[in-house]
Amino acid sequence: MRNDRMAVCSYVGDSVAQAGSFDNMNLLVVGNGGREHALAWKLAQSPRVNKIYVAPGNAGTALDAENVDIAATDIPRLIDFARDQKIGLTVVGPEAPLSLGIVDAFEAAGLRVFGPRGQAAELEASKVFCKELLHHANIPTADHHSFRDADSATRFIRDRYATDLEDVPLVVKADGLAGGKGVIVCSTRRDALDAIDRLARQKEFGDAGKRLVIEERLEGQEASVFAITDGRTILTLPPAQDHKAAFDGDLGPNTGGMGAYSPTPLISDEMLSSIESNVLVPTVHAMKRARRPFHGILFAGIMVTNQGPKVLEFNVRFGDPECQPILMRWQGDLLDVLEAVVDRRLDEVATPTWDPRPAVCVVMASEGYPSSYKTGLPIRGLDEAAKLPDIKVFHSGTAMQDGQVVSQGGRVLSVTALGTSIAAAKLQAYKAVRCIRWEGAWCRKDIADKSFT
Ligand code: AMP
Ligand code: GLY
Repeated sequence: MRNDRMAVCSYVGDSVAQAGSFDNMNLLVVGNGGREHALAWKLAQSPRVNKIYVAPGNAGTALDAENVDIAATDIPRLIDFARDQKIGLTVVGPEAPLSLGIVDAFEAAGLRVFGPRGQAAELEASKVFCKELLHHANIPTADHHSFRDADSATRFIRDRYATDLEDVPLVVKADGLAGGKGVIVCSTRRDALDAIDRLARQKEFGDAGKRLVIEERLEGQEASVFAITDGRTILTLPPAQDHKAAFDGDLGPNTGGMGAYSPTPLISDEMLSSIESNVLVPTVHAMKRARRPFHGILFAGIMVTNQGPKVLEFNVRFGDPECQPILMRWQGDLLDVLEAVVDRRLDEVATPTWDPRPAVCVVMASEGYPSSYKTGLPIRGLDEAAKLPDIKVFHSGTAMQDGQVVSQGGRVLSVTALGTSIAAAKLQAYKAVRCIRWEGAWCRKDIADKSFT
């Protein structure tokens, strides 16, 4: 499998005022999940780093970095902290602060920050904007219609499907951010009408459901493809596969992701090249044309259909848990690449090399997740797991309470392993999982099995 990609787009991007890289830097990572733990852990390996802070972080980031008690969306306090601590680069993990414009605010304050500006983050924060951009740029995606209110969406379904008997292969999506839950895959007319009602009338996800997208239901397997871009040059990363459903065999409700692995044989080198030229490069160009130049991580959710790969959605950040296996394999200085994006000189940095061994990440969750669950339960066996070779236990939802690591979220740990094959990495990850215990802890048992079929 090919290990790295670098494609040069043909236009010249905008420049930023404060360029230049420094040694002995203090960094700030914004967020508190497994993705942010992996980012802090990887950045800590850079010889140019002095100290890493994570806001607000978790019990794992407290071990690999230092936590700061500021919420990821409290932009004014994050700016004050970055100024006071002379932070040389801030790296933003989650979508919420990005769509609130954290990058614009840091830039306006003269602070160096990695991530897309608010207008570019619309690519994830508005599915209507994303679908329209895909359509105009002729990028393969499901056919869609956008609606401004529930009544026009309901009329569309009633006009198109006269009876409850026919298959209705549609997906109804809330326009705005809904933690991955504002998407309802339908099979019948009733499903579609109920979905419109839940999203746009009952507003289950608040204002996210003010506008709707209704699109053709695609069939196939899903993959996550990531590119780091400064708006001129893109660096495509090895592809990953997530496991969104809660239970084995892809059954049960959707979650934030119960496990991931990278690379995935679902995306061959040829297919990755074609996704790069037919999806990633045209998207970066289209964003530039829309005067929303994209700098940061472009995450394409891809469905591999019988007609080839099609875009399900874009996100504007690393995936969680995909980030964990990808960064386990990254060899080289992540800071060099992220800084090069901030300085718009990605074409000048060495592309990373990749550990040839695949990585598998198994998420351990609280009893009841993705519905309600208890927190504050003491977690045992973390030291034992950490002693195993080729293992890193990233923390997703943990806290420190009276000197003890306790559960603090639905997704609690991202147990990540390298192995000589996907099967060997899977075996090693589950060996570590078996060392770790807390009341009600569970995980999917079939992470990465998709790769064997
Ligand atoms: P999104 O947030 O748009 O990626 O959607 C979340 C999940 O819904 C995806 O990972 C897919 O499993 C499913 N999904 C979204 N759009 C479609 C579609 N057009 N066809 C089939 N499944 C879809
Ligand atoms: N794992 C999918 C996501 O981060 O959206």
